Amino acid sequence: MSNSGSRRVVWAGAGMKTSDGAGVKLTRVIGQPNLPDLDPLLMLDEFGSDDPNAYIAGFPEHPHRGFETVTYMLDGRMRHRDNKGYEGLLQSGSVQWMSAGRGIVHSEMPEQDHGLMRGFQLWVNLPAKDKMTAPRYQDIQPDKIPTATLAEGVEAKVLAGTVCGVKGPVDTGATEPFYFDIHLRANSQVDIALPDGHNAFVYVYEGAASVGDGAEAKLVPQQTIAVLSTGTKLHVSAAKDTRLILVAGKPLREPVAKYGPFVMNTQDELRQAFADYQAGKF
Ligand code: FE2
Repeated sequence: MSNSGSRRVVWAGAGMKTSDGAGVKLTRVIGQPNLPDLDPLLMLDEFGSDDPNAYIAGFPEHPHRGFETVTYMLDGRMRHRDNKGYEGLLQSGSVQWMSAGRGIVHSEMPEQDHGLMRGFQLWVNLPAKDKMTAPRYQDIQPDKIPTATLAEGVEAKVLAGTVCGVKGPVDTGATEPFYFDIHLRANSQVDIALPDGHNAFVYVYEGAASVGDGAEAKLVPQQTIAVLSTGTKLHVSAAKDTRLILVAGKPLREPVAKYGPFVMNTQDELRQAFADYQAGKF
């Protein structure tokens, strides 16, 4: 029982190749048949290509209601515009945490016609009590994202949550999310504290990581998600240079009624979302 507080891998697998928006090629990691959701994390897409045909069409105007979209750009530039006149440019290393609340209509379009575009979009659910709040944006530039040294050779960009006394800039809500972009140099290892009850995953986007403690450790190769058990800490090591995201959120344990860009609690609320959108009420 000595490892009872240590998280282990309960499921690992690759994402599913798909396309979304006007034909952007991406890998759906959460929100696909093998991993429909990880309460409160509803979806994770990884996009990454240096072929403009894979991203140039972007995500023209579309609505959202009832949850948050989190876009983290590793490389590239994406311009965001909405129907309330809000506009922002997401550049390499920046994050946008958008709470759709009662509704927005926006577009997310590449602001480049060549070169690498790479990053993640995560969907985080909102509790019933916050689904109809006013929309809110947090556009955070790279110089506002602190780096924490977690161990020798292990550094984390802290987007949200707290690690080693370093607090991320995102003002978070009921799901108390953690979002770290972690770089492990070859032959490094680290123990990371996490709130016990949060659902959490690791997604390796470069290299390979050993996740879990001692005999329970599992090798997680590149472009693989590892869903973690509960526990108060996570042990990760890497034999080669490795980059991964570690994301955690407090489960809401509420009914989820979801269709396309709307995530509510009941079918009636979904019908209302469609009706309001069609009536131009967003
Ligand atoms: Fe969107």
